[in-house]
Amino acid sequence: MKKRVLSGIRATGRLHLGNYLGAVKGMLELQNNPEYETFYMVADLHTLTTPFETKDFQSKIKDIVLDYLSAGLDPEKCALFVQSHIKELLELTYLFSTQVTVARMQHIPTFKEKIKQYPKNVNVALLNYPVLMAADILLYKATFVPVGIDQEPHLEIAREVARKMNEKFGTDFPEPKRFITKGDYVPSLTGEGKMSKSISGSSILLTDSLETIKERLAKTPTDLGKGDKVPDSGGVNTLLTLVEFFEGKDKRENYEKDYLKDGIKYSSLKEELAEAIYKELKPIQERRAKLERDPEYIEKILKEGSLKATKVASETLLEVKKAMGLV
Ligand code: TYM
Repeated sequence: MKKRVLSGIRATGRLHLGNYLGAVKGMLELQNNPEYETFYMVADLHTLTTPFETKDFQSKIKDIVLDYLSAGLDPEKCALFVQSHIKELLELTYLFSTQVTVARMQHIPTFKEKIKQYPKNVNVALLNYPVLMAADILLYKATFVPVGIDQEPHLEIAREVARKMNEKFGTDFPEPKRFITKGDYVPSLTGEGKMSKSISGSSILLTDSLETIKERLAKTPTDLGKGDKVPDSGGVNTLLTLVEFFEGKDKRENYEKDYLKDGIKYSSLKEELAEAIYKELKPIQERRAKLERDPEYIEKILKEGSLKATKVASETLLEVKKAMGLV
């Protein structure tokens, strides 16, 4: 039997380079490997755990689907669907939540971060976020999950749930591992923390024009361009990291040598980097423009993806219900 893979992205806005390098690149690699059966979704239910607008929610969901497809997800190779369309998911989430303590959930770093970010929105679903994610993954008995490093604490919970269910109820869940990509931590353009949808000025979107990419990079803080040690944090580190991803390791090493010797001219580094990023994004944007004109095709793909996912999901749920004595 093929090994299964599952991943998802919340519908909080169009994808940026962090999502692309940390998650989508890994999703593409596994989709193109015939040893794996891949399930990729838009995590609309997880999106509800932080403040959201109902008005444009459907278009935000479609934005992720369009970004996925234009970046190269191929519905012939993967099942592409919307998380909430799989009815079995919430039932499994509830069953799993009976096996997880509140104390364990309260200690998860991502939960603590969200409390700080949205102190007035500490809802029960936010606490249960990792359990829903464990159910997402284990519903398909996925062994690999292509996600960035920030999702590791959630995967740890998924492994704990798998172990507990297997020990207590004799199920056969695999312990899912992160599928690691080179870009599993893309730093922010602001030079602080990771590239993120919720921090303004921190990211470059897959849909950004060359002009916008230049403007965004122009704001990344730099230094004199010369010194005894190449910075391993801050804006300069972000620029060098992006150089490595889009222009190669050699190019980064050349800049590092320049930094220690003659100095870097950031205006030309930024100009060249913007061109290199845009070169990769241009074909993605062209595909997106075509897909945007065909909403019926998108609906059809999502329906087919849901059917494939539901088939696996209903088998797993029934196994768990039997194992727990519910049927
Ligand atoms: P979300 O929507 O926050 O992020 C989507 C994906 O992008 C990755 N990512 C990054 N990778 C590298 N560098 C960055 N700066 C960066 N920023 C974001 C994230 O690691 C993630 O892979 N909980 C998930 C959604 C989800 C899910 C799942 C994922 C729900 N159920 C089941 C996998 C399996 C999330 O919040 O992703």
